[in-house]
Amino acid sequence: MTNKVIVLGSLNIDTTMHVGRLPLPGETLKMSDLSTSGGGKGANQAISAARSGASTSFIGSVGNDFQGQQMKEILKNEGINIENIVESTEGTGQAFILLQESGENSILIYGGANQTIDEESLTQATPMIDDAQFIIAQFETPLEITQKAFELAKKSGTKTILNPAPAQAIDSELMQTVDLIIPNETEAEILTGIKVVDEESCLKASEELIGKGAKNVIITLGSKGAFYYLESKEYGLIPAFKVNAVDTTAAGDTFIGALCSQLELDFSNIKDAIKYASKASSIAVQRFGAIPSIPTSDEIK
Ligand code: RIB
Ligand code: NA
Repeated sequence: MTNKVIVLGSLNIDTTMHVGRLPLPGETLKMSDLSTSGGGKGANQAISAARSGASTSFIGSVGNDFQGQQMKEILKNEGINIENIVESTEGTGQAFILLQESGENSILIYGGANQTIDEESLTQATPMIDDAQFIIAQFETPLEITQKAFELAKKSGTKTILNPAPAQAIDSELMQTVDLIIPNETEAEILTGIKVVDEESCLKASEELIGKGAKNVIITLGSKGAFYYLESKEYGLIPAFKVNAVDTTAAGDTFIGALCSQLELDFSNIKDAIKYASKASSIAVQRFGAIPSIPTSDEIK
């Protein structure tokens, strides 16, 4: 069966500045390269799901500008339903990424149109939300809209997936609408206060997240793999594939989109879905940029 996936999320134009290291205050450095590509956590996750074969629809907002047209075009060319991407008077979202030679990145975000998604977009998209298997959201769009969308989704049995990124503490009301939460180690620590370093601390953090209302947990640990903890109390660590990373931008997004394309509604195939998603993100980190780095199912398989 083909999973129907809805992404409620951000669309950004990413400008990547390739630097040897970060500049100090008052210092001027030359870049070794400068590139732009489509990005935004929402767009990346949607494209990853679509490239892995999911039937994917987007709920979001862009500016009435060239970048907005560009982002809509990019998603449309991937076969993603863009009917529910509205135009805002704010500019299209942007991210400025300082990518160091070490592969580490530092990101500045201009939220712009992403911050203006409102309830009207949800009302319009309700039939679509009802009909989907999964709805995914992140923290680059308004939290109250995510909560409304998740409440709607729950009424029709659509599973809700929250990627709490970029890291931010949240109240338990939103957490109680979450079927699966997927933080990385930093985000898990901000949500739970537990420093996540190994399987034991993952287990503690997961129990804490479940205590706050989330039903299932996957903590992504970069090169260490991904830890899962299910409602049934089954848990485990799936190791990552060893690769040489050049740019980890969108690695987490690639993981999430690919996962949703494979996951069964009852999460019974979680191990296989995580293995598949890990493969996808191990490919993405070996390529530059966000959207351009996301693999197709053929490449993954
Ligand atoms: O997760 C990666 C994304 O975060 C980038 O594409 C950038 O747009 C920022 O939102
Ligand atoms: Na990448």
